[in-house]
Amino acid sequence: MKHIKLGVFIFLLSVGTISAQVPNGYNLWLNYSPQPNSTILKEYQKVSTSVYFQNESDVLNVSREELKRGLKGMLGVDVLFSDAISKSNTLIIATNNNLHQDIQNTLETNYKSIGDEGFIIKSIQFKGKQIIVISANQDVGILYGVFRFLRLLQMETDLSTIHIIDSPKLDLRMLNHWDNLDRTVERGYAGFSLWNWQKLPDFIDQRYIDYARANASIGINGAVLNNVNASALILTPMYLEKVAALANVFRPYGIKVYLTARFSAPIEIGGLDTADPLNKEVQNWWNTMANNIYKAIPDFGGFLVKANSEGQPGPQNYNRTHVDGANMLAKALKPHNGVVIWRSFVYSEHDVTDRAKQAYSEFVPFDGKFMDNVLVQSKNGPIDFQPREPFHPMFGAMPNTNLMMEFQITQEYLGFSTHLVFLPKLFEEVLKADTYAEGKGTTVAKVIDGSITKPKLTGIAGVSNIGNDINWTGHPFAQANWYGFGRLAWNPHLSSETIAEEWLRATYSINSKFIEPVKNMMLNSREAVVNYMNPLGLHHLFDTNHHYGPGPWVSNLSRPEWNPTYYHKADENGIGFNRSSTGSNAVEQYANEVAHVFNIVETCPEEYLLWFHHVPWDYKLKNGESLWNGLALKYQEGVNQVSQMITTWNAVKPYISEAEYKEVDMLLNIQLKEAKWWKDASLLYFQTFSKQPFPKDIEKPEKSLEYYKSLKFPFAPGIRPHWD
Ligand code: GCU
Repeated sequence: MKHIKLGVFIFLLSVGTISAQVPNGYNLWLNYSPQPNSTILKEYQKVSTSVYFQNESDVLNVSREELKRGLKGMLGVDVLFSDAISKSNTLIIATNNNLHQDIQNTLETNYKSIGDEGFIIKSIQFKGKQIIVISANQDVGILYGVFRFLRLLQMETDLSTIHIIDSPKLDLRMLNHWDNLDRTVERGYAGFSLWNWQKLPDFIDQRYIDYARANASIGINGAVLNNVNASALILTPMYLEKVAALANVFRPYGIKVYLTARFSAPIEIGGLDTADPLNKEVQNWWNTMANNIYKAIPDFGGFLVKANSEGQPGPQNYNRTHVDGANMLAKALKPHNGVVIWRSFVYSEHDVTDRAKQAYSEFVPFDGKFMDNVLVQSKNGPIDFQPREPFHPMFGAMPNTNLMMEFQITQEYLGFSTHLVFLPKLFEEVLKADTYAEGKGTTVAKVIDGSITKPKLTGIAGVSNIGNDINWTGHPFAQANWYGFGRLAWNPHLSSETIAEEWLRATYSINSKFIEPVKNMMLNSREAVVNYMNPLGLHHLFDTNHHYGPGPWVSNLSRPEWNPTYYHKADENGIGFNRSSTGSNAVEQYANEVAHVFNIVETCPEEYLLWFHHVPWDYKLKNGESLWNGLALKYQEGVNQVSQMITTWNAVKPYISEAEYKEVDMLLNIQLKEAKWWKDASLLYFQTFSKQPFPKDIEKPEKSLEYYKSLKFPFAPGIRPHWD
């Protein structure tokens, strides 16, 4: 007994010691770790000896505080600020109307080209010495310039000849929080919602401020606070007061708040008996609602709307169109400069052809009909945030509409916050896809950044992966997905490799022996998840409702297109969804050049093979394997890739703390277990159709198909909890 107590005591002691050392990830990529190289340190310290920082607004105040914090952390200096620009200055930070004409001349910059949010960072000769100037048209440009300057230090950039002129390529760079008022987060895997509605508006959690700092550091300028499956209550005075408090916190960081608008709100909280968008009373109700919101939040961003989708109310309930609904709200917001973001994620059980075609069919005929303060927000692919989908055919097909991209940062279909998957690789693949809409080179990135069709407004949204877990995102590497989304929102032409490198340096270590292997691990991680979940264009194979784990056998759900069997269509002859011209003809929604390639089984890229074609089990793949063998080998490859990730992580152990190592090591081992589960369950099930043995390199499944089918997860995260 005594012995056991001593054991417990030692265990508790050791837990205490471990937890004292745990780098908990709270600081994200804003760690500002000390610069270890003394030569670089001296160079950087020289630049920050005397700083002029124009300081007369909330935005400039928080920028100055961030600069202080960053320089203290990285260089160990307490910055000396001067009251006026003088020859002693080594760093000058001011908007153009506060800069001497001679400095402006030396900058040789066309301020017009950087707009309201852009900035300049330039090393110049000033009064006989080399100094650095950060300048912008507006205060928010200074904010972004300061964050970029700090990143340059994190990246150990040579500042002696620095000359950066940069501005965001998209207007709206937003996070969509799918947060409910009870603080559950739909498809959230990092704890509960950050927004503590019960304590707002009086209690301002430090996390709201740190959330805003993190967003501003990557240029995110909008946050939709609540779920697209909306509660009308958010629009009541009690909640609007709370929303206003958050807006006040975010404003100095250049972030506007947006809310989702439940289409039936006029009935639910307005006492009307209709929400018909052509009804005068309904229109007046929304006009008054907009006036009230802007009284409380003068810079309110606008509404995000999910209408007539998955049971949400919308204009079609009154035989009206998406245009009628969106434009009614747009009219209410227009006098206040607000926008309506209308989602195109629609599909109906009454359309029996092909779910993948429906958004395009419903929306493209409305091109040019939406008001100019409406943006249509389309998911990156035609089904639903799968590990791999071809790009959505709406991109390029609505040249007269403000068309906005929606990515999912939270990993609903990619292993929750347990699997290490670097999503910028997926985002990059979509953004670089060529729509051919206006000829070769009309990439999705060019469609959404407006460089081809010049829409009135451009934008991109990411469904947030943030919750109240101490490290914000559950998996420490999921922070890279938030970071990467923001970087791509600023510039959709960036490479995922650059993003991985930046994030690793800012978050973990600047040691190249750590960075190189871990960067490669990140860059390969997306292909791994495709391989062990959805190889060769398979999709929508997950289990029902919670979406945790495989369920390719599910075929009994009330709506046909909710069943995985609808998507893989495996039978004795083969597997895959025929979307070619001999099938649903979804290919015709793409430009001819693209449609032609996808339409023919031999030219269709193999990563989309089973997305577009039903292919016989003995079809010969490009590597000479039969489809059955090739499919099985892809599943195995995915599992092997995760084993390789574990090996990589073990090899870099010397460069990080024990706690950092352990945390990811445990998660990778769960990922390996789950990758095997996906492989075994899927292959055993598909084998019932192919009726062929596994090729020799396939590890034997650990359990039977019946076992995998019997697994139930009523309490998996990301869905509303049951309290019984
Ligand atoms: C998916 C997801 C839902 C979400 C929906 C949407 O279907 O599972 O939880 O509401 O997408 O994007 O609206």
